[in-house]
Amino acid sequence: MVESRLENGSATNILEIGFGLGLNCLLTLDLAITNQCPVNYVGVEHQPIDADTFKSLKFDRWLQHPKLFDALCGIFKKMESASLAESQRVTMQTSSGATPASSDNKFSYVWSTENSMELSVHVTDATTFVSATNHLFDAIYLDAFSPDVNPECWSDEFIAQLKRCLKPGGYLATYCVKGALRRSLARSGWDVQKFPGPNGKREVLRATYSH
Ligand SMILES: C[S@@+](CC[C@H](N)C(=O)[O-])C[C@H]1O[C@@H](n2cnc3c(N)ncnc32)[C@H](O)[C@@H]1O
Repeated sequence: MVESRLENGSATNILEIGFGLGLNCLLTLDLAITNQCPVNYVGVEHQPIDADTFKSLKFDRWLQHPKLFDALCGIFKKMESASLAESQRVTMQTSSGATPASSDNKFSYVWSTENSMELSVHVTDATTFVSATNHLFDAIYLDAFSPDVNPECWSDEFIAQLKRCLKPGGYLATYCVKGALRRSLARSGWDVQKFPGPNGKREVLRATYSH
């Protein structure tokens, strides 16, 4: 699990599908900083929340390193400004008859050069990001809502793309334990296990793939 990697100080690349409120990210980076563990955290989110909403969540009260929360506030602010600028650009283009280009806006933050902590959030659709990336990850958090809400993040095709992004020995973790997902993972060669979840979540699923 990521927790033990971070506690051992093993450099870890993490991909999160569905960055959402940034809570998984904050808790992961908080633990990594405590253990001085180098982490490259890549989040993908197609509809980021606005910076004031993020600020109002006050997640810093749960962190050992509350400055992380301020850093993420800064990223949410940048995403918000870019999204306003983008919607103005698209409005101008569509009113002039031009077709808006699809975009992948990347917002990065380097925590410190000392322990090589880097966070980047890509504002784009997960399917677009995953099919284009050449990066390999030790862990993938699949935290888009659910197969019923956004099936594009749970399809056989998408799961196969995620497999391509995984380092040997890496794994995928998700709160979704639905039978259909487990069967889909097993069909494409993943080894799937269920575990008790943290903080009242009933179960989580971990899938590993031997290349
Ligand atoms: C359950 S929330 C994620 C919570 C988040 N992981 C956290 O720790 O705060 C699911 C997120 O997935 C995003 N999402 C859903 N479908 C997506 C897609 N196709 N591409 C990118 N993001 C998507 C939603 O906008 C939402 O923010």
